[in-house]
Amino acid sequence: ELMGMIKGIHTMEERLKEQFGLDEVTIVHGDSDQSSWVKKELGKACANSIKQRLLAKNIIAVTGGTTTLEAAEAMTKDFADGKEVVFVPARGGLGEDLLNQANSIVAKMAANTGGKHRLLYAPDQISRETHESILKEPTINEVLQLIKSSTLVLHGVGEAIAMAQRRNTPEEEFQKIKDGKATAEAFGYYFNEAGQIVHRVSTIGLQLDDLVSAHDVIAVAGGASKGKAIRSYLRGAPKMTVLITDEAAAEQLLSES
Ligand code: G3H
Repeated sequence: ELMGMIKGIHTMEERLKEQFGLDEVTIVHGDSDQSSWVKKELGKACANSIKQRLLAKNIIAVTGGTTTLEAAEAMTKDFADGKEVVFVPARGGLGEDLLNQANSIVAKMAANTGGKHRLLYAPDQISRETHESILKEPTINEVLQLIKSSTLVLHGVGEAIAMAQRRNTPEEEFQKIKDGKATAEAFGYYFNEAGQIVHRVSTIGLQLDDLVSAHDVIAVAGGASKGKAIRSYLRGAPKMTVLITDEAAAEQLLSES
């Protein structure tokens, strides 16, 4: 029975890899919508995958969310193994709770691994003028340069409407997300089923096009409820090398393809 289960997971990983042209797919057992320990397993898989991909010098950019938070929780002192690691938040604030914010997550990653981190202090939903003057701040600019030189990006993927609600999105933007029939969210970008960008939260930091220059890009998301979102994102993603997901989401991804 157990061997059969392992074989089944492996077959699913291979099929997803082929279908979406990925370097690696890791599927953990279960459904993270149903049990919190499955999300912890996703976090562990992230920590392991990043550890395996470390270069001599690493700038690791991380987005916010409850899943990337589990990746931070799963990291330990033996993570860097003598290599140089700096954790940076991928983008400025997106309206998340403090605990789920990218800044909190990179601080936790650095504390757990003994690595370094930098924070990005930028308000949410900034105007164009504020945006431009913020970019000129030397302390912010320095962190932005680090972000743009990321060697590895770890990010979550969310269901569009759930994310827009969680982030107290202003009414006008919310309407744009709904009108655009957004199904997925990643990095504050909202995608429709065809993987087209229908809205982008204006904040500083990593932009979707920057992903191509990173050595590795790891997307992590699980739960049956995220199946559609993950598929939409996979269609639009400019680059992704690794997908870390759970059985329930993987089943959704394979069932309608
Ligand atoms: O950008 C995607 C979302 O941050 C995913 O959040 O991991 O809490 O579902 P989550």
